[in-house]
Amino acid sequence: MRSVTSLNLSTNRLTGDISSAIGGLITLVSLDLSNNRLQGHIPESFGGLISLEFLDLCNNSLFGVIPKSLEKLSHLNYFNVSFNRLEGEIPTKGCFPNFSSTSFMENYALCGPPRLLVPPCKNNIHKVHKRTVLQALSYGIPTIGIVVVLIGLALMYRKCQNRTTTRPIEDDLLCLGTWRKVSQDELSHATGGFDESNLLGSGSFGHVYKGRLSDGMEVAIKVFNLQREGAFKSFEIECEAMSNVVHRNLVKVITCCSSADFKALVLDYMSNGSLEKWLHSKNCSLDILQRVDIMIDVAAALEHLHTGHPVPVIHCDLKPSNILLDEDMVAHVGDFGIAKLLGEDDEMKQTMTLATIGYMAPEFGSTGIVSIKSDVYSYGIVLIETFTKRKPVDESFVEEMTIRNWLKSSLPKGIIDVVDADLLRIEDEYFVDKADCISSILKLALECSTELAEERKNMKDVVVELKKIKQRFLNSIKHV
Ligand SMILES: *[C@@H]1O[C@H](CO)[C@@H](O)[C@H](O)[C@H]1NC(C)=O
Ligand SMILES: *[C@@H]1O[C@H](CO)[C@@H](O)[C@H](O)[C@H]1NC(C)=O
Ligand SMILES: *[C@@H]1O[C@H](CO)[C@@H](O)[C@H](O)[C@H]1NC(C)=O
Ligand SMILES: *[C@@H]1O[C@H](CO)[C@@H](O)[C@H](O)[C@H]1NC(C)=O
Ligand SMILES: *[C@@H]1O[C@H](CO)[C@@H](O)[C@H](O)[C@H]1NC(C)=O
Ligand SMILES: *[C@@H]1O[C@H](CO)[C@@H](O)[C@H](O)[C@H]1NC(C)=O
Repeated sequence: MRSVTSLNLSTNRLTGDISSAIGGLITLVSLDLSNNRLQGHIPESFGGLISLEFLDLCNNSLFGVIPKSLEKLSHLNYFNVSFNRLEGEIPTKGCFPNFSSTSFMENYALCGPPRLLVPPCKNNIHKVHKRTVLQALSYGIPTIGIVVVLIGLALMYRKCQNRTTTRPIEDDLLCLGTWRKVSQDELSHATGGFDESNLLGSGSFGHVYKGRLSDGMEVAIKVFNLQREGAFKSFEIECEAMSNVVHRNLVKVITCCSSADFKALVLDYMSNGSLEKWLHSKNCSLDILQRVDIMIDVAAALEHLHTGHPVPVIHCDLKPSNILLDEDMVAHVGDFGIAKLLGEDDEMKQTMTLATIGYMAPEFGSTGIVSIKSDVYSYGIVLIETFTKRKPVDESFVEEMTIRNWLKSSLPKGIIDVVDADLLRIEDEYFVDKADCISSILKLALECSTELAEERKNMKDVVVELKKIKQRFLNSIKHV
């Protein structure tokens, strides 16, 4: 049956294993084996069913895990393994984010995200930790150093935690009291019962939904996954950090909603999505001035965090997906889940939380020390990404060849080889002025992302510098 496209053996009395040879039917579009008595595992070879759109295995006696290879089925739009005896982690990549809980009902021990109405995976947390630690190791830190530092950190972390957890809960409620009161029911109503169609995104600490409050206001609702290690802390930090910090370029917290088993933040809704989307999806594109304006906004937001208060706030996780754009394309920095508040006298803080690989400053990765200069580093990397469209986690960047070193060594050879090709072409009008502008910006980005923290610029100077570059560019194209 080399070229079969549809195979329906549903509602028979078939027993035994599913033949793994089925995995070789590369033209198969629809496979229905539901309502039989099939046993054994779902063959790993199903990952080879590259044309498959419909896969129904429900109501059999299949056991084992759902093979990760199914993530490769990019056309799969119907998937059902309900009423089996499957166990283990539900894959999360490929087409799986598109499936709902009714695809996985009544199994033996599946686990995964709460939206699929299954328990969270226990070993998940450890896996993630193992991976980040491994990645940190690959930064070339001597192992012994880590052990010593970690012990020190663990002690400090305990001390910090004691400090935050001993504070009475009433304090937080008071802080919330000045805000608009919203109940869990209203939030549920606003999002159609936290319906998947309203899901804007999922992060490490939970899900973000789009919603409309009873008065018609559009909001983004970030619901914390409390099963996740650190979620309580993250909620507290984000609530605390963002309630005290108000700026035109920061995502505004409208209110926090907190009960023993439900914690959510209600945020301003940003209709034009993230910078990540604008940089890396096919049908979006930004011109030079838009990109400069966005990065001026982001710099202003960081400047405000770092210097606008008696207690500086370090964002710790600046990256394009945390930079959101409103309907006027004004950028707002969001996601303060791992932000740190610096006490008046400490300029640096050690931390256990690891930020996103690629945007994380070297000293943060190696010693866990964060300072406002760690944010400056991340800013430099985002600035490079914004004008080159290369991601710091790109496969071609390994070990010593980081995105920064690549830029540093390529820049002298000419801007045209490094810049995002959508932004600058030789035949462009004002080519020279554009090239000047972009190369000044990339030089600034290099100055923000130096290896040594103390050599990095201040955000205040960055704002000034960027505004100058922009003005110079505007003047030059006006005078031509
Ligand atoms: C397969 O056959 C069964 C029984 O006739 C039918 O209910 C089901 O809809 C068919 N599946 C597909 C994918 O057509
Ligand atoms: C499972 O299949 C059996 C027959 O094979 C049928 O009697 C039963 O109703 C089915 N159960 C569900 C939930 O579809
Ligand atoms: C998920 O669904 C959306 C809309 O239905 C579709 O555009 C997208 O391709 C799907 N993603 C995958 C990985 O199948
Ligand atoms: C999967 O099959 C079960 C049992 O037949 C059904 O109740 C459920 O709605 C199906 N899921 C989807 C996504 O169609
Ligand atoms: C691409 O454009 C279409 C239609 O304009 C829109 O529906 C879709 O969301 C866009 N895709 C992305 C990734 O923004
Ligand atoms: C941003 O979003 C608004 C409304 O959602 C839309 O009208 C506007 O065109 C968008 N801006 C750009 C540059 O696409």
